[in-house]
Amino acid sequence: MAGLFAVIGNPIEQSRSPELHYAFAEKLGIELSYQKRLAPLDGFEASVTEFFAQGGSGMNVTVPFKEQAYALCDVLTERAQIAKAVNTLWQKDGQLYGDNTDGQGLVDAILELNWSLKNTRILILGAGGATRGVIYPLVKAGAKHITVANRTLVRAEQLIGDLKHAVPEAELDIVELAKLSGEYDLVINATSASLSGEAIILPPELKFHHAYEMAYGKPSTFIEQAKARGVPTTEGFGMLVGQAVESFAIWHGVKPELKDFL
Ligand code: ATR
Repeated sequence: MAGLFAVIGNPIEQSRSPELHYAFAEKLGIELSYQKRLAPLDGFEASVTEFFAQGGSGMNVTVPFKEQAYALCDVLTERAQIAKAVNTLWQKDGQLYGDNTDGQGLVDAILELNWSLKNTRILILGAGGATRGVIYPLVKAGAKHITVANRTLVRAEQLIGDLKHAVPEAELDIVELAKLSGEYDLVINATSASLSGEAIILPPELKFHHAYEMAYGKPSTFIEQAKARGVPTTEGFGMLVGQAVESFAIWHGVKPELKDFL
């Protein structure tokens, strides 16, 4: 599908999606135009309608509109239904389709590092939208046990209650962020703490072997502590590229090689 694409959000200036999609298109010999579109906070639906009325082929959705995009779609993929959030839109036969490629983007970025996910124990810090989007793809990629740690325990309880039916093959449990302990193959920071410059404390009782920070380009106390322990670490740029690769594949039917763009 050549044509017009865009990422919609508010704010939008910081988005790196256009440069990624142009890089994929160049590599794969596809012609496209990919814009940044700023939607007013109360004008998401009108902006999406306008974009497709102008002949738009596909749209990425970013903060704060992913839940609104989910609500707007006529048809949702299974992983978008489970995430209750949509980051990839397209139209077919007059209907609006929505998918969520964030979780698979994370999985692909992790596998690209040669960090195995098969039969792993994973600790995810945070119980917001970012966590909701990644549990199902992590389990499908082989995670056996996932613990969700949150500052506000009830939010983690609600999240697990909601998701456990979608991933019956995995064991899920919760813990308060202030009471971390035990041993994990991988810890993922899916809190927004580093985005707002706040610290996450990892106590000595918590043992882990790999650390993934979903944010990128910001100082992260989470990454600093993992590095101080000599644990392999990485930040969310790979996830960003991974979700873009997946969106591109949905729209164009060809999948860029993630490793070429990291
Ligand atoms: P997102 O969609 O990015 O997940 P969100 O839904 O606002 O954003 O969720 C943010 C997550 O980061 C929550 O789990 C939040 O914890 P609470 O549910 O207790 O609010 C977590 N978070 C944000 N700032 C934090 C901090 N300074 N320390 C620990 N957790 C934090």
